[in-house]
Amino acid sequence: MISFAKNNVYNCLSPRQLMLGDGSAGQVEKLLIGWQISGGDLLLVADREVVKLGLDRKVVEPLEAAGFTVACFDGIVGEPTLEIAEALTEFARQKPFKAVIGMGGGSSLDMSKLAAAMALNQGEVTDYLGLTSFAKAPLPLINVPTTAGTGAEATAVSMLSVRGRKAVVLSPQLVPLATVLDAELTKTLPPQITAATGMDALSHALEGFMSVNASPFSDTQALTTMSIVARWLKPAYEDGSNMEARRAMIYAAYTGGLTLNAGVVLGHSVAYTIANRCHLPHGVSCAMALPYTIAYNLKAIPERLSQAAGLVLGKDKAQPVELVNWVADLIAALGLPRSLGEVGITESDVPAMITECVERYPRPTNPAPIDAQRLKVFYETMVTGDLARTIEFYQRG
Ligand SMILES: [Fe+2]
Repeated sequence: MISFAKNNVYNCLSPRQLMLGDGSAGQVEKLLIGWQISGGDLLLVADREVVKLGLDRKVVEPLEAAGFTVACFDGIVGEPTLEIAEALTEFARQKPFKAVIGMGGGSSLDMSKLAAAMALNQGEVTDYLGLTSFAKAPLPLINVPTTAGTGAEATAVSMLSVRGRKAVVLSPQLVPLATVLDAELTKTLPPQITAATGMDALSHALEGFMSVNASPFSDTQALTTMSIVARWLKPAYEDGSNMEARRAMIYAAYTGGLTLNAGVVLGHSVAYTIANRCHLPHGVSCAMALPYTIAYNLKAIPERLSQAAGLVLGKDKAQPVELVNWVADLIAALGLPRSLGEVGITESDVPAMITECVERYPRPTNPAPIDAQRLKVFYETMVTGDLARTIEFYQRG
């Protein structure tokens, strides 16, 4: 049930246009023509991996056949640095591009947002860090994800690493004008990436649902995402050629991205503290933190958590704690690590991780207050994977 109990004002963002279906990546020109762009130079921002696999051709060839010229910037790697963003900015300013297309995982999509804005606006990337606005509206932007998880194709944020630290450029102007969800592009994703990215989408849904900034809009997206992931992530992981599962998961990633209107909570903060110590895919560190985060919030929002538990378990009534165990079982079924110990983090790392979590990644969105004292059990039990002890501790209050 979507709650309308609060009378807050919410400002929710989403792409203006959504094209979805197998082969839709080959129909990008339809979007452009609808916007009165019928020829000229286009900028494609893509993952190196996407180009290596030739996936970019699925977008580029039909565009070339329709009379467009496509310049490709394929220098995007995971966790793009400021240097990459600067090189891309220079590239985007070289020609009078009519539109920008981002293609790949979250990093490419994020960088394409920046390119669309920086192409027409003066200054350095560093002038726009944080919540910002651009004097000139960005170029029309289309995002074509090739993984199913980050939800970057639906958000207003561009993440980059500035001198080793995570930074963001955040503006409503960065939301893509259109998103294209073509599940065919995800068909060859290996199972580990399907699992990790799918769990990122679930984290966005569950964390957004737990957030104190949850709205009727974000709840709608969150509940949709949870029910799709509950039904389809395992089938997509077990058989990548299951197109129904692939279609479902690329859509869940998008709705998970829309849930981010509510922001994330403690789980993503903890995930960053894990990723800062061992280079795990973002979705893996988020997955590891997720059951503990739900446990941490058990007392704060029991009704919400039992609603989510009922949804994913297909029951009319469920206990909040069943949600914690369901997520833990899913993580196990997907072969993801279940303790910090498994990824080489020991108890001696815990004090620094707690400080970092509280100081560097504060989350006023989290329903239960976050403090170092309360986090101690969270991290300590996570080292060994003792989820039962976490549940027992946080159920007490
Ligand atoms: Fe995420």
